[in-house]
Amino acid sequence: MSGAAGGIGRATAVAFGRQGAGVVVADLEHVRDQALETVALVEEAGGKAIFIPVDVADSTSVRDMVDETVAHFGRLDFAHNNAGISGTGFMAEIDEDEFDRIIAVDLKGVWLAMKYEIQYMKSNGGGTIVNTASEAGLVGTLWAGAYVAAKHGVVGLTKTAAGEYANMGIRINAVAPGAIGTPMVAQLPAAAKEMILAPQPLNRLGTPDEVADAVVWLSSDQSSFVLGTVLSIDGGATANAESYNSELSPSA
Ligand SMILES: NC(=O)c1ccc[n+]([C@@H]2O[C@H](COP(=O)([O-])OP(=O)(O)OC[C@H]3O[C@@H](n4cnc5c(N)ncnc54)[C@H](O)[C@@H]3O)[C@@H](O)[C@H]2O)c1
Repeated sequence: MSGAAGGIGRATAVAFGRQGAGVVVADLEHVRDQALETVALVEEAGGKAIFIPVDVADSTSVRDMVDETVAHFGRLDFAHNNAGISGTGFMAEIDEDEFDRIIAVDLKGVWLAMKYEIQYMKSNGGGTIVNTASEAGLVGTLWAGAYVAAKHGVVGLTKTAAGEYANMGIRINAVAPGAIGTPMVAQLPAAAKEMILAPQPLNRLGTPDEVADAVVWLSSDQSSFVLGTVLSIDGGATANAESYNSELSPSA
């Protein structure tokens, strides 16, 4: 489970812990302390957990994460590729290095993880993979072009891989969260939150647990006929045709 030191990844790790699962809390080395807190929470919830440092943008690091997972737990049945970063700026002003970094972490990171997870799963009886896309993987979101491009790419990777490996017992899906009350979003000024929530019928932030429950379901046999889907968990935001907000457009 990548990006599990906090937010949605932590909630999902704990939700798997409640099912008695062995969970790899994978995240950057520099958030080791937070990752170890997640490890403790998973164990309190009834699971087993270890921290494995990873940079999902680095292929050696990702391959090692999968190898260490199998070495420690003896198998890999479920993967949640969730690590991600965001960035802001109108299209014409996005910094090139930032664009490259967002694509490397949010898009290439998901591909690298699937590459090594699938290589293991296809010769070891299958498994399930859930990628974290975003509402921004389904619709354009002003001021977030690189993130939107990366998350649309995650949707494409998910659908393609789902078709390629279905006959090997590997079931691949994605979740597309809307505005979720992780620290990143919760700390936004009230006006910014209001702008995010205005087009959303349920008019509130989602909780990390609401995403985690969906990831656990997509990883379980209860969703056995669900393949290549991108499950929106967004309070109705992408179903609402009014989501364009002209106040967010750059002024001429
Ligand atoms: N919070 C939201 O509203 C929201 C909405 C849609 C999608 N998402 C997506 O959900 C996922 C989790 O986001 P979150 O809101 O929990 O944010 P978060 O910042 O709490 O979690 C992201 C985690 O990814 C880790 N990470 C970043 N770069 C990494 C790298 N190179 N290698 C390994 N780990 C790395 C971070 O250390 C962090 O723990 C992300 O993919 C994000 O794009 C979040």
